[in-house]
Amino acid sequence: MGNITVELGGRSYPIIIRDGMLPSIGPRMHRLGLRGRAAVVTNALVGGLYGKTVMGSLKDAGFDAVRITLPDGEEYKNVEAVGMVYDGLVAHRMERTSPVVALGGGVIGDIAGFAAATYLRGTPYIQVPTTLLAQVDSSVGGKTGVNHPMGKNLIGAFHQPRAVFTDPAVLKTLDERQLRAGAAEVIKYGVILDEALFAFMEANAGRIFASVSPLSMAIERSCRIKAGVVSVDEREGGLRAILNFGHTFGHAIENIAGYGALVHGEAVAIGMCMAAELSVSLGLCAPDAARRIRSLAAALGLPVHPPDIAPGAFMAALRMDKKVSSGVIRFILPTSIGKVVIREVDERDIKLAIRKSLRDSAR
Ligand SMILES: NC(=O)c1ccc[n+]([C@@H]2O[C@H](COP(=O)([O-])OP(=O)(O)OC[C@H]3O[C@@H](n4cnc5c(N)ncnc54)[C@H](O)[C@@H]3O)[C@@H](O)[C@H]2O)c1
Repeated sequence: MGNITVELGGRSYPIIIRDGMLPSIGPRMHRLGLRGRAAVVTNALVGGLYGKTVMGSLKDAGFDAVRITLPDGEEYKNVEAVGMVYDGLVAHRMERTSPVVALGGGVIGDIAGFAAATYLRGTPYIQVPTTLLAQVDSSVGGKTGVNHPMGKNLIGAFHQPRAVFTDPAVLKTLDERQLRAGAAEVIKYGVILDEALFAFMEANAGRIFASVSPLSMAIERSCRIKAGVVSVDEREGGLRAILNFGHTFGHAIENIAGYGALVHGEAVAIGMCMAAELSVSLGLCAPDAARRIRSLAAALGLPVHPPDIAPGAFMAALRMDKKVSSGVIRFILPTSIGKVVIREVDERDIKLAIRKSLRDSAR
């Protein structure tokens, strides 16, 4: 399996994807030049499954490692959790060169990454993603942060990891709903940049979760796409925005439904279907492409219709999105599978698309 590099000059870093690599994390960190104290940030579930292996590997490689255990769930992705990490880092007398290891899904990765970005004005950190979503998406690219009661990911910082160590074998313990949610991000990569990946997912939809090999291929392909985009546009000045396909509607749905009611990938799946319909209604995309997106999401067991939300509340939530500037809402809209455009869309057209999606879901 592959080695991929996110190319950012002196801050470039590898994404290493290898089945069964968890016990080699300590020596790999040592080879990166990291030494001394380290902190593994995780939650009780993931820590219970893999904490011992990772802690043992760090200790064997000479690290003085401490484990910091956070509560599990998107509802705990907040500043209080970051405070808990700071407390652990201070108590362990972590220094500016001491690495933080994020062992968990996107929630742990985002919190631990943000703590690493801000503790002592920035310490190194390593991503060890354990959900499919984190392996294909959140562990790569250096976006870190937490939610605010008024919106998702409103507090954060760009801080690139020193390495991403991805072991697909840990997905064996992940429940199926979470696997499906991660697959939503793989669909996203297919729609925005890679028709072949999309077709691969269509061809393998029935068996993708049953065997390591097609899943690993999807992880590697997804990471290559994300690494390529981030290498060109680290801070989302342009191209990187296309990675938000499905997320504008998706975040609004998450905000209204309440964090945790739908998992992130499910909200993104609905968001992608809605964005594709919006694109069709604006005459930018053939109906067949929208149909393929919906069919693939459904074949992977993902929801494709929004929950029952009043259109006014939906619009209000869209306006709250942190990517809305001067009241203008921009969408990533597919023009075909593998191609998207970024468009400012009139509120009237958005409302029409929301109403249509709600009508379709009521059918
Ligand atoms: N930083 C980014 O670029 C970026 C990109 C996409 C999403 N995100 C963020 O990622 C978060 C969602 O991440 P997620 O979907 O990984 O959810 P998550 O981190 O909440 O993990 C889902 C559940 O799976 C459990 N789990 C994790 N690994 C496991 C394993 N191997 N075996 C068994 N259980 C396991 C977790 O404890 C949790 O209960 C959201 O907060 C989202 O905003 C960030």
